[in-house]
Amino acid sequence: MWHIRLYQPADRAAVFQLCGDTAHFGDPIERLFDARELFLDTFAAYYTDVVGDHLWIADDDREGVIAYLMGCPDTRAYYRWFAPYTRRIAWRAITLRYRGLFTRKTLAYIWRYAHLRVPYLDLSPYPAHLHINTRAGLRGGGLGTALMSAYLDQLRREGISGVHLETSSENTIAVPWYEQLGFQLLQRTPTSLYQPSVGHSIDLLVYALKL
Ligand SMILES: CC(C)(COP(=O)(O)OP(=O)(O)OC[C@H]1O[C@@H](n2cnc3c(N)ncnc32)[C@H](O)[C@@H]1OP(=O)(O)O)[C@@H](O)C(=O)NCCC(=O)NCCS
Repeated sequence: MWHIRLYQPADRAAVFQLCGDTAHFGDPIERLFDARELFLDTFAAYYTDVVGDHLWIADDDREGVIAYLMGCPDTRAYYRWFAPYTRRIAWRAITLRYRGLFTRKTLAYIWRYAHLRVPYLDLSPYPAHLHINTRAGLRGGGLGTALMSAYLDQLRREGISGVHLETSSENTIAVPWYEQLGFQLLQRTPTSLYQPSVGHSIDLLVYALKL
C-alpha cells in the first residue's frame, strides 16, 4: 500500500536515488552523464534542502519512496538561491569530490549544455514549477496523478497564480498527460543536447497551467 505525504529530511537519500535512477527520460542519469552526485547536487538539492515543504512523496509500506513531485512555489527565489550555490558546486568539482566528472561523456554533455540557447520566455504568470518521476515498473498505477493533485491543491490553497514545467518530446507518456491535465505548451526549442544518448534531436518543451 502507498500513500502520498510531504517530504521529510530522512527521505533525502531515497529521493536522490530515485531522481538519479529516472533523470534521463525515466532512465538512469548515467545514460547521459557519469557524475551522478554532481547532477543531484545541481538538480535536486534545492527541492530537498530549501523547499522540502513543496516536495511530495509517494511512500510504499515496503518499498519506501516510489515516486516524487519536486515542487517550487517561487521560481525567481530558486534562481536567486542557485547563483551563489554554483560556486559551492564548482569548489566541490575543483577539489575532485565528484566521481565521473572527468569522463568523455560527462565533459561532452557539460560542453553541449553550456552552448544550449533557449529563447527568453516570460514565466511570471506561472511562478511555481515542478519535476515529477515514478520508479520504473510502477508507472501507470496512479502515483503521478495523486502527487500532481496534492501539489496543485497546495498551490491553489497558497494563492499561487500558475505553475510551469519543462519536459521534452522524448517524454512520450508525460507530454499527453500534462495536456490532459490542462497544461498549455508555451515554448518548443529543438536541440541536439541529448543526441548521443537518444540518437536523434529532440524538442525541449515548456508547459504551463493557470491555477
Ligand atoms: C510521467 C510520470 C511521472 C507519471 O507518473 P505515473 O505514476 O505513471 O502516473 P499515473 O499512473 O497517474 O499516470 C498518469 C497518466 O500517464 C499516462 N500513462 C501512465 N502510464 C502509461 C503507460 N504505460 N502508457 C500510456 N500512458 C500512460 C496516462 O495518461 C495516465 O493517466 P490516466 O491513467 O488518467 O490515463 C511517470 O510515467 C514517469 O516517471 N515517466 C518517466 C519519466 C518522465 O517522463 N517524467 C516526467 C519528466 S518531465
